[in-house]
Amino acid sequence: MGPLQIKEILQATPENQPVTLKGWVRTKRESKNAIFIALNDGSTIHNIQAVAQPGQFPDELIQIVTTGACLKITGQLVESQGSGQAVEVKVESIEVYGAADPDVYPLQPKKHSLEFLREIAHLRPRTNTFGAILRIRHALAFAVHQYFNDRGFFYLHTPVITASDAEGAGEMFRVTTLDLNKIPRTEEGAINFKEDFFGREANLTVSGQLEGELGAMALSKIYTFGPTFRAENSNTTRHLAEFWMIEPEMAFFELEDNMDAAEDFVKTVIASALENCKDDLNFLQNRLAEEDKNKPQNERSIPLLEKLSFVVDNPFERLTYTEAIEILLKSKPHKEKKFQYPVGWGIDLSSEHERYLVEKHFKKPVILTNYPKEIKSFYMKLDEDGKTVRAMDVLFPGIGEIIGGSQREENYEKLLGRVHEVGIDPQNLWWYLETRKFGTAPHSGFGLGFERLVLFVTGMSNIRDVIPFPRYPKSAEF
Ligand code: 4AD
Repeated sequence: MGPLQIKEILQATPENQPVTLKGWVRTKRESKNAIFIALNDGSTIHNIQAVAQPGQFPDELIQIVTTGACLKITGQLVESQGSGQAVEVKVESIEVYGAADPDVYPLQPKKHSLEFLREIAHLRPRTNTFGAILRIRHALAFAVHQYFNDRGFFYLHTPVITASDAEGAGEMFRVTTLDLNKIPRTEEGAINFKEDFFGREANLTVSGQLEGELGAMALSKIYTFGPTFRAENSNTTRHLAEFWMIEPEMAFFELEDNMDAAEDFVKTVIASALENCKDDLNFLQNRLAEEDKNKPQNERSIPLLEKLSFVVDNPFERLTYTEAIEILLKSKPHKEKKFQYPVGWGIDLSSEHERYLVEKHFKKPVILTNYPKEIKSFYMKLDEDGKTVRAMDVLFPGIGEIIGGSQREENYEKLLGRVHEVGIDPQNLWWYLETRKFGTAPHSGFGLGFERLVLFVTGMSNIRDVIPFPRYPKSAEF
């Protein structure tokens, strides 16, 4: 499996054994007695120190050993002479795979702003911050699969190209092979999608849920974990046009079971990051503390690890939408007209309202249930009052909605009624509706926005910084 990674070498007992290092130079420091090269291969936040002697190599070689260059170093693993690391490598040979001209290489060993790093997304994984984020992202994805596998769920691959709008919000990216300069028309002058690749209109999926439900009606417990696309023009720190969503769907689960599942799931994956990503989380915690130093005491955030442990160790607050509205109506910001958007039964809660509930009122994650049907998707099970649906949103501090889910309407007539009410053509969903005709069952599910989870766990503040190559309005560069 190739040479040992720096992570493994750093853990080895130094016995003057030969080692080969391959990685990118973070820094080079020359003193009278030694040349110190800090090398990193992305396997860990920690660099390994390689020490060469002045005069050991030609000047032309040492000159091109600069930040960003890729090297192969051979040498001996020895106990470190200096403090700060247990082991170091006594260099015997250096091969430069690729130099990085310091006059033009944009990543110099100094602090770069996150905005600047977004412009060089092809190189930012080489920074400590993005290395840490990407390793944590990987660990969380792995924990997601582990979680479901351990509990008898099957990973269902739902299509990326679909002909239906699962959320009914009309925020889809079109998929077509029609020549946009020669669009075929019907006799009535409309676009003739019969001539398009799929013989009909098609788009990128906004959610794998509808197909996920088909899976749950056969395998009982499934989950999806795939890319999801939304053409909403949201330039916020919480929205991407392409994001990854995890959508478990469970037959025989009612709303209460769904809440238990969502809470247990999100706590378990966060706990696994705490367990498996200690070095990277410590690095990010220190980074945040450094940023906080410039802020007044009352605006400083709680340390990252403490925040994560708090979420893992404490039960989420559960209440209905109606109860939440009552709390908001009695709240100080409402009475003092400090909220930008009005509060009243029937409103779609805005992020200021969600943040008040989570960060000011309860000071912990909250699960809100039983929303008015008008502000939720057509597939949610109607409550007995006919006004609310069995929806649940999980709200997190600093994030807002991290999970959206519901018990599904399993009654054919009621579901068809809602399809008509919201103006969806039932012809487009005949296959979905048929599950309610043949062996229907109570079932529930939810969707976790993976980047919002990574955002929470890393303590970063912009969702564009927790996915390697973000897609948002006017940006699809890399
Ligand atoms: O609440 P949403 O729209 O729910 C669904 O799509 C359902 N089909 C889920 C289900 O029941 N199976 O989205 C679910 C989650 C949100 O809570 C949020 O975390 C994330 O997906 N999300 C986004 N993340 C990043 N950028 C966006 N534009 C997002 N839109 C939703």
